[in-house]
Amino acid sequence: MTRWIAIAAAALVSLLPLAARAEGNAPPPDTKEGRLIFEDNCIFCHGEQGKGNGVGSWALRPKPANFTDLEHMAKIPGPALRKAILQGGKAVGASRAMPAWKDALTEEQVDAVLAYILSIGK
Ligand code: HEC
Repeated sequence: MTRWIAIAAAALVSLLPLAARAEGNAPPPDTKEGRLIFEDNCIFCHGEQGKGNGVGSWALRPKPANFTDLEHMAKIPGPALRKAILQGGKAVGASRAMPAWKDALTEEQVDAVLAYILSIGK
């Protein structure tokens, strides 16, 4: 009996962070690390300010995503953005010029850079 109480308690505790996030109580993600990852890997195409106008963008059609276009960004669900970063644009039906980063970045780094690009323009 006490074993079940312990298991139930452990399950509840593990759900707490989720509940906090759902209510918007979670602290805002730290975007500093994300900014550094962005500077190292994404500016070439997406541009210094994330407007999709980096030096590498001139020949690209469609243009790299403009992260300051909040209306456009709001249309793409978070999991799809994450998938685009991990597996490349082709995996989400976007341009194949958007590289896959799963071999270059850890999942934590992808989450950090995603938090950063979602903070651009806000
Ligand atoms: C070689 C150029 C290039 C680099 C480097 C690049 N991207 Fe992109 N990215 C693109 C292009 C082009 C698109 C536009 C895809 C489209 O609209 O079809 C895009 C689109 C995206 C999208 C939106 C996908 C969607 O569903 O529309 C995200 C998110 C993204 N890039 C994140 C990143 C991140 C984060 C990095 C750095 C880790 C990065 N990109 C580096 C070219 C690049």
